[in-house]
Amino acid sequence: MKFITVDTYEKLSRQAANIISAQVIIKPDCVLGLATGSSPLGTYKQLIDWYNKGDIDFSSVTSVNLDEYVGLDGSSNQSYRYFMNKNFFEHINIDINNTFVPNGCADDLVTEGLNYDRHIEELGGIDLQLLGIGLDGHIGFNEPDRYFVKSTHVVDLHESTIKANSRFFANEDEVPKQAITMGMVSIMQAKKILLIASGKAKYDILKKAFYGPITPEIPASILQLHPDITVIYSEN
Ligand code: F6R
Repeated sequence: MKFITVDTYEKLSRQAANIISAQVIIKPDCVLGLATGSSPLGTYKQLIDWYNKGDIDFSSVTSVNLDEYVGLDGSSNQSYRYFMNKNFFEHINIDINNTFVPNGCADDLVTEGLNYDRHIEELGGIDLQLLGIGLDGHIGFNEPDRYFVKSTHVVDLHESTIKANSRFFANEDEVPKQAITMGMVSIMQAKKILLIASGKAKYDILKKAFYGPITPEIPASILQLHPDITVIYSEN
């Protein structure tokens, strides 16, 4: 594991964008696993900037996102599909048909999960998976549990996650109580993993996840077993 600490969010974003752009340059038709939330916003901004300067070409890239709220479709501006379109995809030359986010409005969410995993497998797996980490140690929306869940599945969001994510909604009551998230197999089978976290509030959970015991009670701790993971942490 490579653990990089920097002092600012700008530096974190630049380093993360560097790793992603290197992946796209080395393998233009790569599969990127992408995340939403505050952590990757600066990374996406930096990648858009380099794209505008002509330094990166996303035309052959495929992306698969980690998760989506149950009950929100892409037209809802709180959905993760909307977040990805607005904050990244609409600003680069990725083919929108090659961008995938689990469908939180599927009639049968179990089948949706199975199909999502099968699709990732058919793509040849994820070349580089970008992750954030929740204050409770979640990755994707794999919340603390008694066991690691392998496949893409529906999860009940924990109170702390609902509270943390309420900043994107008018109030806490509007935050969906469930999400569909990639499970541990697709994440752990990614060839490379890049986890980014910023702010002092994330420090304790990072320490527990990467230097404590591997336990489903801290889902991110499973990443200690991954052979090629880089963690970038910024204090601010
Ligand atoms: C989002 C996701 C989540 C976030 C995590 C951290 O797609 O999968 O695991 O990465 O909740 O969120 P931020 O970056 O907003 O602190």
